[in-house]
Amino acid sequence: MGIKVVIPAAGAGTRLRPHTHTTPKTLVQVAGKPILGHVLDNLLRELEIEELIVVIGYMGDKIKRFLEKNYSLKTTFVEQPERLGLGYAVSLTREVVGDSPVFITLDDTIVEFDLGRMVGGDCSAIGVKEVDDPRRFGVAVVEDGFVRRLVEKPSDPPSNLAVVGVYYIRNTPLLFECLDRLIKEDIRTGGEYQLTDALQLMIERGERIRAFPIDGWLDCGKPETLLSTNRYLLGKQGGSYEVPGSVVIPPVFIGRNVTIRNSVIGPYVSVADGCEVIDSIIRDSILNENARVERMILERSLIGSNAVVCGRASQLNVGDSSEVNLH
Ligand code: G1P
Repeated sequence: MGIKVVIPAAGAGTRLRPHTHTTPKTLVQVAGKPILGHVLDNLLRELEIEELIVVIGYMGDKIKRFLEKNYSLKTTFVEQPERLGLGYAVSLTREVVGDSPVFITLDDTIVEFDLGRMVGGDCSAIGVKEVDDPRRFGVAVVEDGFVRRLVEKPSDPPSNLAVVGVYYIRNTPLLFECLDRLIKEDIRTGGEYQLTDALQLMIERGERIRAFPIDGWLDCGKPETLLSTNRYLLGKQGGSYEVPGSVVIPPVFIGRNVTIRNSVIGPYVSVADGCEVIDSIIRDSILNENARVERMILERSLIGSNAVVCGRASQLNVGDSSEVNLH
């Protein structure tokens, strides 16, 4: 018997605009596949998934199509009609989850850890990691390995242990009761019903929640973190490729039906299926499906699906001892 897994994936991904104007955040490419592909492949390596429950809203059809095409898991989609927060999203899965233990993982968080040790134990557990500035996360106060208190995005954090976004919940009836209470009594933080606040209520009701330390937390929520995750994952999983007439510096990922001509690609470049790269130099960048790049030097760049980026070659007639700076 496996475990039910909930992935709330209805968010609009505003921090990854403009990519999320046309693609749900979780389908943005990093190191050769969409973020959601990494999240699921990591889970499947270590867990037997009894049922995948995906909360969709914003461009949910694309998420449905991706999962149906690439995974043969028993999957239930739950529509989220309003964007009222993570706690609200999870509350909508009550009917499907029933009273079985559940593993909840966020759709933009790739984690590398020993899932088997976190899931299946005799008490709930949430992933935590020490960070320099915890103010943009849920924050946990931990004593003797157990979470004593949780606060969502505090301006004055009581510790620097951030809530990573992976949660193993055993007592799901109590979770849904606490989520209900937030909604009925309209208890919001930052205008939203927070999962963190429901977990705090669970602690107050006696639920024991272990703090599970996580080292490998690969955030994909913003362009700079997406690029650093791309570098990290390519460093571990990226390959080397031969492209006649071009130079490929590993690690890179190059998808199917890609055309590369007269170019230098790498290191740390992901080129998704169907892209064209002509007369260009690209490093430390991500090209989404069917992007076309011509006569460009790119670095730390994100190029969306079907985008076309063309530069121009300069023609110069420069005299002796001149200085030309093309910024
Ligand atoms: C959510 C959670 C927060 C957690 C964070 C991890 O916040 O509410 O507790 O620390 O994910 O990424 P969000 O990033 O959706 O604002």
